[in-house]
Amino acid sequence: MDWYPRHRRDLPWRHTRDPYAIWLSEIILQQTRVQQGLPYYQKFLAAYPTVHDLAAAPEQEVLRLWQGLGYYSRARNLRHTAQQVVDEYGGVFPGSYAGLLKLRGIGPYTAAAIASFAYDERVGVVDGNVYRVLARVFGISADVATPAARREFQLLADQLISVEQPAEYNQAIMEFGAIQCTPANPDCLFCPLREQCFAFQHGLVRQLPVKTKAKAARTRYFQYFVLRHADTVYLRRRADKDIWHSLYDFWLRETPQAELAPQQVLAEAERLGSRIAANRVAEPAAAMRHALSHQKVEARFHELWLDQPLPDQALEQTGLQAFTSAQIEQLPKPVIISNFLARQGII
Ligand code: ADE
Repeated sequence: MDWYPRHRRDLPWRHTRDPYAIWLSEIILQQTRVQQGLPYYQKFLAAYPTVHDLAAAPEQEVLRLWQGLGYYSRARNLRHTAQQVVDEYGGVFPGSYAGLLKLRGIGPYTAAAIASFAYDERVGVVDGNVYRVLARVFGISADVATPAARREFQLLADQLISVEQPAEYNQAIMEFGAIQCTPANPDCLFCPLREQCFAFQHGLVRQLPVKTKAKAARTRYFQYFVLRHADTVYLRRRADKDIWHSLYDFWLRETPQAELAPQQVLAEAERLGSRIAANRVAEPAAAMRHALSHQKVEARFHELWLDQPLPDQALEQTGLQAFTSAQIEQLPKPVIISNFLARQGII
């Protein structure tokens, strides 16, 4: 509490007590770092100043604003939660931790953040920063990936929190973890807690907190068929239960290997009921890679110019739709798709 006012970053969500704005900031910050999150926070608040605005927004527009943050179900849930607040709570967020927990997509961390920052409720926030600080200062070696450890840390956080200033306390411990007690190179030399820090006193700073490693991400190979005719490009809305749900991409074949032989490319186009204009198979662009938390995507783009529009039957079967550049610009897309389109000068 003494350290915080002297080291805190001036961040916009620290100047508000509006639970809606705080909730927005927390959902965005679960997805990215503070610096990357800032413009998203500003954009969302500018587009949707109140929970009513977000609830009434078209899903596609929300996804478009979220573009680049990844994990797009968060963006869809964001809108659904806003609708729930409007429909079931008259547009007013529940006024307590327990009430907030009942909202869709709001777990213990987010509920604690909103309840403490907006209402000064005495409930400890426990995020990655807080785990680290507590594990080191108190020498807790429970694996933070387990539910039992989570309960232990939550209990401790609830005991430590300031009675008079819960909001300030929660911000302080998170900020301390983010700035001072960092994962790789904590500033132990100038740390106000070094005398009482178990990890520092026992040379265990590098060992704590204990966290089991995530499984290695598997690699998936995406073969994208970028079908073009005149000034249109064919894309479709992803509807399967898979990554990038509701975003737009091209016709896709997933293969066990990275490469696809040229005759396989042509065969695929013909299967779609279309003839390729002579010599209009572009060299496959260099693979683009995209790392998600549990999988890596290696995508190859096969650009095919059609000598006539795709027949209606093919459109029905594939879900593909013809779009102009201006329309594509407005669609929510995975970042690799956006990057490809930009590189080809399409958007
Ligand atoms: N990360 C998550 N919530 C945060 C907050 N309120 N301030 C700074 N970083 C955060």
